[in-house]
Amino acid sequence: MDNKKFDKRLLGRNYYGRSHPSQFCLACQHTSMIKLGCRPRTLSLISVIVLAISNMFLTFLLLQSETCMNSDDSESLMPMNTVTEWNINSEDENLQTKNTVRCHVNEGNSDVNDTKPPDLDFRLGRWDNRRQYKTFDSILVGSKFAELSTTKCICLATQSSLEKLHSLVQVAHHWTASISVALYIAGDEELEALQKYLYYIRRCYPPIRERVTFSLAVPKNKIPTKNPTRFEYSENLHCSTPEATLFEIMNKISIEHTNWRARNVYPQNHMRNLARKNCQTDWVFLTDVDIIPSVNLANSLETFLRHVRDCDKCAYVIPTYELDVRVKFPQNKMDLVRLARKGLARPFHWKVFIHNQYATNFTRWTSDVIPGAKGYQDVVQGVTYISHNVTNFEFLYEPFYVSKDTAPAHDERFLGYGYTRNTQVYEMFVAGYQFKVLSPVFTVHWGLQSRKNRPGWRERQNIFNRKQFDPFKREIFAKYSVDPLKMVRKSN
Ligand SMILES: *[C@@H]1O[C@H](CO)[C@@H](O)[C@H](O)[C@H]1NC(C)=O
Ligand SMILES: *[C@@H]1O[C@H](CO)[C@@H](O)[C@H](O)[C@H]1NC(C)=O
Ligand SMILES: *[C@@H]1O[C@H](CO)[C@@H](O)[C@H](O)[C@H]1NC(C)=O
Repeated sequence: MDNKKFDKRLLGRNYYGRSHPSQFCLACQHTSMIKLGCRPRTLSLISVIVLAISNMFLTFLLLQSETCMNSDDSESLMPMNTVTEWNINSEDENLQTKNTVRCHVNEGNSDVNDTKPPDLDFRLGRWDNRRQYKTFDSILVGSKFAELSTTKCICLATQSSLEKLHSLVQVAHHWTASISVALYIAGDEELEALQKYLYYIRRCYPPIRERVTFSLAVPKNKIPTKNPTRFEYSENLHCSTPEATLFEIMNKISIEHTNWRARNVYPQNHMRNLARKNCQTDWVFLTDVDIIPSVNLANSLETFLRHVRDCDKCAYVIPTYELDVRVKFPQNKMDLVRLARKGLARPFHWKVFIHNQYATNFTRWTSDVIPGAKGYQDVVQGVTYISHNVTNFEFLYEPFYVSKDTAPAHDERFLGYGYTRNTQVYEMFVAGYQFKVLSPVFTVHWGLQSRKNRPGWRERQNIFNRKQFDPFKREIFAKYSVDPLKMVRKSN
């Protein structure tokens, strides 16, 4: 795999630039099953339904047994087992589980007055440069967010639409520093669903209530007409089923609205900028909401960043793996590599679009788990260190990385899927940032991905964004006067 060459045709129609096939895919499939809101063109309706049902079933099972942390001590970490019931009959030791832990939650907690509406008036808000979206900073602030922002040097910035928000539960249990979440909603129906779900997750999960600050973006053509009234969810709180609860709430959204959503793009880069800028620390780790940090990642990075030489133009890459939904979340790198050897984990997008993380060099990254290898002691002790520099940077590389938030913004001309994260990473490279791969830390995306179930709208959004790329790359050239990947010359 090391002699792969960059292929210019990647810029052509086979390119799937977006890192999260499931971001809408999943929800789309769910809702399409329920409401026929989406029409993937490449699949027959039958296979869509079969996929949707199995997808729904698997993810449902997965989260049914999710472990939660019941603690006022946000530093203590309980092992997270996102195990499923159907592990039990497995022959594979990796798939065995006996410790499906029940969630303990302090329902009815009185230290949070969640019925108080956020200070939000939809007649106000900050417009983006093209007046397409309005944003509202920090509409709900975690009770420990400000404190964590001053005592720690790193913050997690992430973004989500409503249908993926359940992923935040596991993210917030693993990440013990501050978290800035940018939420996107359109119209009154989504606002209402969001209010209910925010009430629910803040009530059920102390890590969310304490660490997470939410910001909000709404589209110009579907600004909610009602200001939030009360954050309340009157049905019974089933804190052990965050995903099922979300789908239950979202089920009340009308077909008309679901169809509208399917036709309109999710402004990814606006959301990333919103999340980033509501972090208060120097260092920011920007992810998408379904990217789950490894256990103890925040503490380990904190120690690393406090000891590493100060570096304004360093981007510390944290490798991302995709994981078979049947396995337990790997507790450390050894576990992860073991799963990878069994084919139950692999680098994110390995089959869908290998360039996504190719330059990270996974051969190199996994070499330190062998006793005696350089870095082995750090792996055993869980100490974060720089494994190696990225030496073969290529266009379309889009790692998740930690950097100072003075890094270039995410260009908001790119909407929806394709050319969103990788254009920002490209600008960093042109601007002289150095990418350094950390070990033994990692992140995980649930589910092994294949190209098969990619809906047609993704490709359409990708084509739209590809057209935006030409002027973008010329602007980058004009701004930095260098063209290390010969992108500008290439097109002429
Ligand atoms: C919670 O907020 C509501 C609405 O602002 C207020 O009426 C009520 O007194 C508050 N309760 C507590 C315990 O602070
Ligand atoms: C990965 O690292 C190995 C060992 O340093 C090197 O030989 C190889 O060329 C690297 N591959 C990439 C794609 O960087
Ligand atoms: C990685 O890059 C830095 C410069 O940022 C350099 O000082 C260092 O020697 C490089 N490390 C290796 C192993 O090449």
